[in-house]
Amino acid sequence: MIDYNVDGDGVATITWNMADRPMNVMNGESLAAFRDAVYRAIQDKAVKGVIITSAKSDFVAGADLVNLLKESKDAAKALQNSFALQKLFRDIEKAGKPFVAAMNGTALGGGYEICLACHRRIAADNPKALIGLPEATIGLLPGAGGTQRLPRMIGVSKALPMILEGKKVDPKTALGLGMIDEVVAPGELLSRARAWLLGDGQHNHVKPWDQKGFRVPEAANTPKGAQVFTAGNAMLHAKTFGNYPNAQYIMSCVYEGTLVDIDTGLKIESRYFVACTQSKEARNMIRSLFFSIGEANKLANRPKNVPTQTYTRIGILGAGMMGAGIAWAASSAGLQVVLLDSTQEAAEKGKAYTAGLLDKRIKAKRASEADKEKQLGLIKPTTSYDDLKGCELVIEAVFEDRAIKADVTKKAEAQLEPTAIFASNTSTLPITGLAEASARPANFIGLHFFSPVDKMPLVEIIRGRQTSDETLARAMDFAKKIRKTPIVVNDSRGFYTSRVFATYVTEGLTMLAEGVAPALIENVGRMAGMPVGPLALADEVSLELMHRVRSQAKKDLGAAYKADGSEPVLQLMVEKLGRIGKKAGKGFYDYPADGRKRLWPGLAQHFPAKPEQPALEDVIKRLIYIQSVETARCLEEKVVIDIRDADVGSIMGWGFPPFRGGTVSNIDTVGVTPFVAECDKMAQVYGPRFAPPKLLREMAEQGRSFYAA
Ligand code: NAI
Repeated sequence: MIDYNVDGDGVATITWNMADRPMNVMNGESLAAFRDAVYRAIQDKAVKGVIITSAKSDFVAGADLVNLLKESKDAAKALQNSFALQKLFRDIEKAGKPFVAAMNGTALGGGYEICLACHRRIAADNPKALIGLPEATIGLLPGAGGTQRLPRMIGVSKALPMILEGKKVDPKTALGLGMIDEVVAPGELLSRARAWLLGDGQHNHVKPWDQKGFRVPEAANTPKGAQVFTAGNAMLHAKTFGNYPNAQYIMSCVYEGTLVDIDTGLKIESRYFVACTQSKEARNMIRSLFFSIGEANKLANRPKNVPTQTYTRIGILGAGMMGAGIAWAASSAGLQVVLLDSTQEAAEKGKAYTAGLLDKRIKAKRASEADKEKQLGLIKPTTSYDDLKGCELVIEAVFEDRAIKADVTKKAEAQLEPTAIFASNTSTLPITGLAEASARPANFIGLHFFSPVDKMPLVEIIRGRQTSDETLARAMDFAKKIRKTPIVVNDSRGFYTSRVFATYVTEGLTMLAEGVAPALIENVGRMAGMPVGPLALADEVSLELMHRVRSQAKKDLGAAYKADGSEPVLQLMVEKLGRIGKKAGKGFYDYPADGRKRLWPGLAQHFPAKPEQPALEDVIKRLIYIQSVETARCLEEKVVIDIRDADVGSIMGWGFPPFRGGTVSNIDTVGVTPFVAECDKMAQVYGPRFAPPKLLREMAEQGRSFYAA
C-alpha cells in the first residue's frame, strides 16, 4: 500500500500505492504504513532526502470518509488521532532533511496537506489534476495542518477563500497562487524532485515558520489582516447566515492560528476539526453530498440484468432553452445530436447556444478552436424528421402542451427503430398520459433536466406506468454518459422535484397573502439556507407559468382540485396587475435595466403587512418543514422510492440547504417524533398541508428514523 525504496544516492522514495482502491485515500491502515515509511526515512542516516509520490494516476485524494465517520464517533479518540497526524506531518517538517512532494496528479484535502508539510511541492503538468482543500464543501475543515500552513505560505487573503470555498485548481493555477513551487513535464517529475533534493534541498529544508522572526503574512494583528478578517467575516455571514459552523471554525482557525506559533496553531486546528466532525451539519453534508450523490452516480438503483446501453446518436425535438442546453450536454459527451425545431432558424439558434458556451470556454482557456469545431460538427440542426433515423434516444423539449407533444412523439417514432427510447423533458405533465401518444409506451420515459442545463447537474428520471425496466436502465446509462446525476421517481403531477420545490414558493406567496411583510419572507428564506427567497423564485419561474400550471391542474382534476393560498396572489398579480415575473421586468420585484432588483413598492398596497409580524424561527419552519412534509408524502405515495434520491434531488435540483442534508435528512435531524409534533401544531395554525402523513406518524410511534440503518 505504501512502497519504500532507497537508491544509491541516498534518495528515499515513499510511494502511495493502494492497489485495492481506485484512488489513494488516508485511513487508519494507509496512514500507519505511511508513518512507518516516514520514520524509517527520517531515522536512516544514509537517507539524504525523501520523495513522496504515488503510483496511481492521482496523488492522494484525501481522507477515507467512511473511516473518518466511524473513527470520529468518539470525540476524545478523534482528537488523539488528529494530534497524532499533526505530529507526523510536523516531524516531516522538522526532519532535518528535505522532503519533496512529487505530485503526479490530483492532491486534495489530506493529500494536499501532505504536500504542505513537505519542503517543496513539484507538480506534473496535468491540466486535469486538481489541487486544493475541499473539506469545507462537506461541512469539515482541513484538519491536517491546512488552515495553518497555507496562510503561512501564501498569506491570509489568498488562503482564506481557497479554504472557505473549498476551491480546487489545476497545477498552473496553483503555481500562480503560490500553493506549489514548480510545474514540470510529467516525464520529468521524479528526476526534478531528485535533483532538488540533492541540490538546493540539502541547504533549504527549514520552513519559514521555523525560522527566527517569522511573521504570518497578513496575521490578524496586522492592519491588512484586520481588514481581511473584518471583511471576510461580514461576507461569510451574508452568505451563510451562520448556518455552516465549519465555515465559522475555519475563520477561527486562521484568525487564532495567525497569532500563535505553528505548534499551537495546529492544536487549535485539531480542536475545531473534531468539533466539525461532531456536528450534524457535517454528517448531513457528508451523507448526501458525498455518499448519496456517489451512489446515484454509480447508478445504484439501475435495474439489474439489463446490458449497458452505449450511445452514439440522439435526437432532440425543440431547440429552445432546454433543447439547446441538452444538445450542449450530449455533444460535450461526444454524442451526435440531431436538433430539430419547426424552423431551420430556430434549430440553428439552438446550436448557436453550444457555440456560445464554447466561446466562453476558449476565452477561459478551457477549450481550443479545434475543440469547438469538433463539438459543433456533432450537432445537426434540422426541421426534417427523416434525420432522426438511427437515433438510439429522442428527447422532446417542445412547448409544454399535450397536443404538440403528442404530435412530435408520433412523427419521431415513425422514423425510429422499435428499440429506440422516447423521452419527454416535460416539467409538469404526467408521463403516463403523454405516453398515450406513443406506439411503444414501454420505451417511453421522462428525462427532466434543470435549467440552465450546462450548470445544473441533476436529471430526474420519471417512470411512467408502462415504462419497462429495460428503458429505465438504458435511460440511466444515458444520464451517466452525459455526466449528470440521475434520481429515479415514479409518475405523479410535478413528479418529485417540481412538486416539492413548489411548496416552498407557494408557502412564501401564502404568507404574503396573510400579511407577512415581503422583505421578511425573502430574507428569512435565505436565512433558512435557501439560495433565493420564495418571491424572487416565483418571479424567476414566472408568475404567469405558475398561474397557467394551476389552471391546467384545475381543468385536469375537476372536483378533486385543491386550491392553495397562493392562488389569489397569482390571480391578482397576473390577471389584474400584469406583473408576470422577471422576464417581463416586473413581478414581486422591479427589475430596472440598469440596477439591482428591488421589491415592488406596490406590494404594500395590495398585500398590506399585518402590524404583528411572525417570529423569524416560525417563518423558517414554515418554509423548510413544508418541503419535508411534502417529501414524506412523496415517499408514502411511492413517487420517490429511495430516500437518498430525495435528499440528492432536493439539494441538486432546487438548492435545498445542504447543511440540512436534504428534505429527508432534515426530518431525521429534527427527529421524527418532534417533527411530527411540530407539524401537527402547524397544521392547526396554518392548515392541513402541514399534517404529517401516516408514514411519519408510524415512524414516530415506532421510534424509527430514516437513516438509522
Ligand atoms: P422554449 O419555448 O424555450 O422552447 C421550445 C422549443 O420548441 C421552441 O424552440 C419551439 O420553436 C420548439 N417547438 C415548439 N413546437 C414545436 C414543434 N411542433 N416541432 C418542433 N419544435 C417545436 O421552452 P423550454 O423552456 O425549452 O421548455 C421546453 C420543455 O422543457 C417544456 O416541456 C418545459 O416544460 C420543459 N422544461 C422547462 C424547464 C425550464 O426551466 N424552462 C425546466 C425543465 C423542463
